[in-house]
Amino acid sequence: MSFLSATLARVKPSPTIAVSTKARELKAAGKDVIGLGAGEPDFDTPQNIKDAAKAAIDRGETKYTAVDGLPELKKAICAKFKRDNGLDYEPAQVSVGAGGKQILYNALMATLNPGDEVIIPAPYWVSYPDMVLLAGGEPVFVEGRMEDGFRITPEALEAAITPKTKWFIFNSPSNPTGAGYTRAQLKALTDVLMKHPHVHIMSDDMYEKLTYGDFEFCTPAEVEPGLYDRTLTCNGVSKAYAMTGWRIGYAAGPAPLIKAMGKIQSQSTSNPSSIAQWAALEALNGPQDFISENNAVFQRRRDMVVEMLNQAEGIDCPVPEGAFYVYPSIAGCIGKTTPAGVKIENDEVFATALLEEKGVAVVFGAAFGLSPNFRVSYATSDEALKEACTRIQDFCASLS
Ligand SMILES: Cc1ncc(COP(=O)(O)O)c(C=O)c1O
Repeated sequence: MSFLSATLARVKPSPTIAVSTKARELKAAGKDVIGLGAGEPDFDTPQNIKDAAKAAIDRGETKYTAVDGLPELKKAICAKFKRDNGLDYEPAQVSVGAGGKQILYNALMATLNPGDEVIIPAPYWVSYPDMVLLAGGEPVFVEGRMEDGFRITPEALEAAITPKTKWFIFNSPSNPTGAGYTRAQLKALTDVLMKHPHVHIMSDDMYEKLTYGDFEFCTPAEVEPGLYDRTLTCNGVSKAYAMTGWRIGYAAGPAPLIKAMGKIQSQSTSNPSSIAQWAALEALNGPQDFISENNAVFQRRRDMVVEMLNQAEGIDCPVPEGAFYVYPSIAGCIGKTTPAGVKIENDEVFATALLEEKGVAVVFGAAFGLSPNFRVSYATSDEALKEACTRIQDFCASLS
């Protein structure tokens, strides 16, 4: 009898972690490596948020809290949904967990039975399929092609829905592409979902605040109020408030689902850190002006990276609407050979050769379910980005 569970065998190790491990090994061996794999802002958490955490410690807010969140924080989350998304929620419809990741995981664990299907647009955040598998469900992928701006079509969504579909996971702006759906594009999808009342919608709005230019964020329950009763709207403070290490995510949705998610959390981790919850409260209720300041920096970097990557031979890089990623195609490099004699057969070989021959760490597209591409995170300094893009240009020019 195997010691490790059969469930675990359904899951693969994270390919993004594999890339960072390899980059770390090369760095430790003295190689000059630039990492473009980070999924977190390089900005520090704003001072008012840190101060709120310190004050919470000094007040003695160091005990267990309600399992799925402090009442004060739930109230602030309800106010945020009203203010930003025009959505009305009661505190009993809100759950707070240790990061957006735990929230999504709780929801899947609380609802999936063997054979239940979950529709995931590809390219996708690496954790969605494996979380579905861990919870006993079956991921069903719908491809958002590069020529469609990495967005799925309503026809493709319709075709993927079966009687076994339990959830549709929606993520805009997206990790890994940065692609965002306009209101009209999202409405076309919600029109399809309205025809299938057994399908629930998990909207992962983690990158809501990180959008550029005149792109306007929207979320399914707001675009189609008819979906309110079967939508879980998920969000968190990790990306917008540069708080990845604090581990606070939240969601709002139907009260019975929220209660079920709390039950899972009560038998696993209990409440997220009391101190981090008080910090998140300040993040949501406090000044928001640094977000647009940070976004101006992100937008400048995005534009520089897109321009420099498009100057690289064989690379085609679309301009994304948000997040801090770009997802260029390397179709023009496939079949070529590197100076070290490696034939670029796919995006994984491209990323490995780029790391070994030029010291630039990116994540290959197959990890996110759409090839031949790679993901660049531009949440790093302008200098590092410029140097990395120059190296990518040199690498592409050296291919024959
Ligand atoms: C699309 C998406 N959802 C959720 C998360 C999880 O966020 P958290 O760090 O709050 O768990 C991430 C983090 O990378 C993400 O990219």
